Amino acid sequence: MRRAFIIGWPVEHSRSPLIHRYWLKRLHIEGDYERVPVSPDALEDFLASFADQGFVGGNVTIPHKEAAFRFCGATTQVAAQLEAVNTLWIDGGNLHGDNTDAAGFLAAIDEEAPGWGKDLGKVVVLGAGGAARSIIYALIMRGAREVLVINRTIARGQDLRRRLGAAIAAKSFADLPGALADADLLVNTTSLGMRGEAPLEIDLSPLPARAIVADIVYVPLETDLLRQARARGLRTLSGLGMLLHQAVPGFEHWFGRKPEVTAELRALIAADIEKS
Ligand code: ATR
Repeated sequence: MRRAFIIGWPVEHSRSPLIHRYWLKRLHIEGDYERVPVSPDALEDFLASFADQGFVGGNVTIPHKEAAFRFCGATTQVAAQLEAVNTLWIDGGNLHGDNTDAAGFLAAIDEEAPGWGKDLGKVVVLGAGGAARSIIYALIMRGAREVLVINRTIARGQDLRRRLGAAIAAKSFADLPGALADADLLVNTTSLGMRGEAPLEIDLSPLPARAIVADIVYVPLETDLLRQARARGLRTLSGLGMLLHQAVPGFEHWFGRKPEVTAELRALIAADIEKS
């Protein structure tokens, strides 16, 4: 039986087991996907020994994405660019890593907002952490001409410009109204608006009617940001699609079949979020 893991610290909150076990069952594959709490001190040992413990690979979540990247013997190009991995497997005795967050975001927005990237001019990204890095990488790959990174700590936005290129400009929250005017897409990558966190209080009125508003937060499924956008008649996208789509490549590596993000899977995870 093939077994995969998700490691994090903490990891109890992860919904990835629900997603992968759904696919295992649907595809009649004998396998399992387990949460494994791994502290930062124990990461190196775990990565060196998981194959001996019977695992074929797994996912990596906070706070291990950058550290796990450094232990990989080989990575995909996107993981090398982002210097972080969320998906691991063994090939030829070597630890391989990929970062599927960028592709997961693109697959979700392609599915939920068809035509969104046809003529992508200005994009506004709130936040400058690891999640922002993946999403900005994805947006630049799809030809965004201008990416305004709005962050409390401006130096982190400037760091993203150094890493990912001159299409990025680092701004503060005070610059937000001007940034939103004429933006094609707004993406929240901060944890603001997540259940239990501070709210994200911004005024969306400067956004043009064509703008799409995306949130990577998926608890709650509809954040205040998305509710406000929907009330204005804008197209919206929650973090659920990205969560589901980022899981696809890992499943394929570990279990040998490409799974589908079905309406049934969406409903299953949405129900779990709503009851939590
Ligand atoms: P992740 O890897 O999930 O993106 P992270 O690297 O900790 O997590 O980044 C969290 C993001 O949320 C950052 O952009 C952070 O802003 P700072 O860089 O200034 O810390 C933002 N964030 C978190 N709490 C915030 C708050 N109360 N107000 C404004 N921004 C906040």
